[in-house]
Amino acid sequence: MIAYDKLFLMPTSGCKSTKYSAAIPTRARCRLEAYSAIMSIAHEIKHARRVVALTGAGISAESGLGTFRGKDGLWSKYDPAVVASIESFTRDPRKFWEFAREIGWIFLTAKPNAAHIALAELETMKRLDYVITQNVDGLHQRAGSKRVIEIHGNAGRVICTRCLAECATEKIVDRIAREDVPSCDRCGGSLKPDVILFGEPLPKRAFDLALKKVKSADLLIAVGTSLEVYPAASLPEIAKKSGARIISIDSERTGWDDLCDYKVSGPAGEILPRIVQAIRITF
Ligand code: APR
Repeated sequence: MIAYDKLFLMPTSGCKSTKYSAAIPTRARCRLEAYSAIMSIAHEIKHARRVVALTGAGISAESGLGTFRGKDGLWSKYDPAVVASIESFTRDPRKFWEFAREIGWIFLTAKPNAAHIALAELETMKRLDYVITQNVDGLHQRAGSKRVIEIHGNAGRVICTRCLAECATEKIVDRIAREDVPSCDRCGGSLKPDVILFGEPLPKRAFDLALKKVKSADLLIAVGTSLEVYPAASLPEIAKKSGARIISIDSERTGWDDLCDYKVSGPAGEILPRIVQAIRITF
């Protein structure tokens, strides 16, 4: 069930209040607003020419993966400058691998949730062009999305920092458990998960493609991201400047809500399947 009292359509300016909605009791009004949020967004998606989704850690929260910011976020327990920067990795890769071992296993075992599946369905229905994700968990692909742009890499791969050989993380789990810093079979160099650490450049091809898709989109749906990290944080603004409408689905208020044409507050795993259902049965 949708938590109706947590699900509000929030046009960021010019919120319309009608006599009808003012006259009905609060709980019923919440239901109406929730219903109207779903229908409005379904309508936007159905009538857009090119839709892209931009996802962050919040879309994987219902798969059991932690987010980064907020009260219980990963960065409230660990200092990202110490455990997730390229500078600290280069200085002391052991510290990084200690952290990676502590949080990493869940990445290999987590399953896609209803929000990932809903985005994959939208792609199948030809309503979604691309998913651009900051996540490194591979859950969009495991849910069936084919067109996924990973701008922060993928924890399912490791890469040798010396000879750049790549291999699947699941193939070396024993070595990761055994060795302080797992090393490359070929050259003995230190291995590193193929994820972008703070201070590293984003993969150029992936980010260029993301930029191209965002510039040609007429609707961008951001799901579960605080957008506190650049350059990903610039994407909705670039889309907006190129004429796209912006929708945000997030369980909390975020610092960039003012940019949005629609904001829906609530769990992505409940909201996105409702939107897909509304597109199927209406219009
Ligand atoms: N449904 C929708 N949104 C949710 C849910 C949920 N079930 N749970 C949490 N959220 C929202 C939070 O309210 C928050 O706005 O997801 C967002 C997660 O924000 P962050 O933790 O900052 O994650 P993200 O935006 O992906 O971080 C960007 O920061 O440290 C880096 O490289 C890391 O890619 C990551 C980048």
